[in-house]
Amino acid sequence: MAKQVLVSGGAGFIGSHVTVELVQAGFDVVVADNFSNCDKTCYEGVCKILGCRPPLVEMDFCDLAAVERLFADYQIDAVIHFAAYKAVGESVAEPILYYKNNLLSFLNLLEVARRKGCNVLFSSSATVYGETDVLPVTEQSPRQPATSPYGNTKQICEDILRDSVKAYPGIKGIALRYFNPIGAHPSALIGELPRGVPNNLVPFITQTAIGKRECLSIFGNDYPTPDGTCQRDYIDIVDLARAHVCAVARMLDGKMEEPYEIYNVGTGRPISVLELVNAFEKVNGVKLNWKYAPRRPGDVTAIWADPTLANEKLGWKATRTVEETLASAWAWEKHLAGE
Ligand code: WQD
Repeated sequence: MAKQVLVSGGAGFIGSHVTVELVQAGFDVVVADNFSNCDKTCYEGVCKILGCRPPLVEMDFCDLAAVERLFADYQIDAVIHFAAYKAVGESVAEPILYYKNNLLSFLNLLEVARRKGCNVLFSSSATVYGETDVLPVTEQSPRQPATSPYGNTKQICEDILRDSVKAYPGIKGIALRYFNPIGAHPSALIGELPRGVPNNLVPFITQTAIGKRECLSIFGNDYPTPDGTCQRDYIDIVDLARAHVCAVARMLDGKMEEPYEIYNVGTGRPISVLELVNAFEKVNGVKLNWKYAPRRPGDVTAIWADPTLANEKLGWKATRTVEETLASAWAWEKHLAGE
């Protein structure tokens, strides 16, 4: 019988791609979402890609009774937890909102999951590493104090998971630390749907290319990097989603070597903002209106992953080129524009 995986926040950008990959890998999936930061577009896209409708539960993980009902209604073997707020700037302006939502939802989930003996995969972030001189970062690289409440919720949730699996031997946990997820599903039926002005680079690029934004600002060209712009590890969203399938399989097949495991999910390849912009223009044959602007407060100069542990233990590796990924991002933007 197929194992059933609960995907909290399963209608969002990463959750929708993970749902597709899980179902295509033979898992049953229950999608749970409160649609606070997304509409039904991506869920409908998921159904179109799959040709079936994974059960959708509209609920808030801050509501413990709702989480209990969910686990009573479905026989859940593992959980992947995405349901959280994710805007760095907003978290600085509204810390209570962020701490309450991101911590309470995770605590409720863990409370019920541990009663049911259900393993938990937590969506963490490379943001936990902060600014570091030693690159690439491995899972052993020290975490730096968080620079935003959002980043702090990722660190705290990692710690909650670590402490919980230690205290409750019936459950195990995995934290995946994502680098910069970009792109869209090759079908162009699901992708990122930022609300308002995008904070992240790639949606800003695609919206500028389609004419929704006038000009892309490249934040800073005086960093100590080869071309003066920041370097990141941009990971294709489908590659990222596949890492979840590998991690869930490891959990459910009893292959975990420790009760709590952490994996970097990145390519191991640094790309500068300028390189990314040039690659976007080249692969898609479009001219982008861009200018240099002052540094954005809070940005780190450079960060990229050492993904060796995920390669070896999860049997996972990023496969898509940045050109393929940028082509998928552009196809998605055009799909949104009805082209
Ligand atoms: C990438 C690079 C910018 C916009 C953030 C969060 C992180 C994670 C992913 C998730 C930087 C530059 C950007 C623009 C630019 N969060 N840039 N002009 O900051 O690496 O990571 O998103 O939920 O926690 O901090 O990603 O895409 O915002 O920026 O020049 O208009 O692009 O300065 O160097 P970042 P990003």
